Amino acid sequence: MNVEVFLTASSAAEEDLKGRAVIVVDVLRACSTLVTALNHGARAVIPVADMAEAGKIAAHMDASTCLMGGERGGLKIDGYTLGNSPQDYTPDVVQGKTVVLNTSNGTRAFTRARGAAEVAAGCFLNVSKVIEFAWRAESDVAIVCAGSDDRVSLEDLLCAGLILHQLWNGTEPAQRSDAAHIALTQYTHDRDDLASAIARSNHARRLVGLGFADDVAYCAQVDALPLLPVYREGRVVLADPAAAAVSSKTVPATAD
Ligand code: MLT
Repeated sequence: MNVEVFLTASSAAEEDLKGRAVIVVDVLRACSTLVTALNHGARAVIPVADMAEAGKIAAHMDASTCLMGGERGGLKIDGYTLGNSPQDYTPDVVQGKTVVLNTSNGTRAFTRARGAAEVAAGCFLNVSKVIEFAWRAESDVAIVCAGSDDRVSLEDLLCAGLILHQLWNGTEPAQRSDAAHIALTQYTHDRDDLASAIARSNHARRLVGLGFADDVAYCAQVDALPLLPVYREGRVVLADPAAAAVSSKTVPATAD
């Protein structure tokens, strides 16, 4: 299977992702947060590129069903209801709501994949689901690691490496990119204690310093939320809404 890896969102041009099956990976924390929100009954998450896009989208939404979430420097954006901690996205807060999610790196990565054939959101919490997504893909696969401020993030690299390890049955093909080789090699090095490797990453240490140690431990759990969030027409929704902990059937239909 032909799989390309982009080590940061900024290294993936829209042209690179056109027509591909794309997995956007942001372990800490955008993808972990959005899969948690969808598991807890959010109708959709709209990932945005920046503050201007967030404001424009929110202005056209029904305020009673829309929540603004996101961070800058890891902390909740002033005036927003929610930050970027998965712990903020509890069922009582998000059920039936559409979340406009505005983060420094992760949500920007989705906007680069607008021309892709199909797009899924991946992290450790749902890694087996995105591996299945890649297996089923009819086009070449691209894994886009969000990274952090145009730099490589170890936790995203490890998640990309785990995906590659499964897709390639542990055997690296002769034809692979340097980025894919780096991700797979790092995963092989750290696979016996992923949680500790993630905890030692730059981003995790920054989050711990901000008081988000629980988020780091939460986001390191492999397959705790076996759900497939897909990005379609600018929104991330569950491919199979009935799989969520809070069934969408219990959510009253609202227009937004
Ligand atoms: C991002 O998109 O850069 C992250 O999700 C930041 C964070 O940990 O809140």
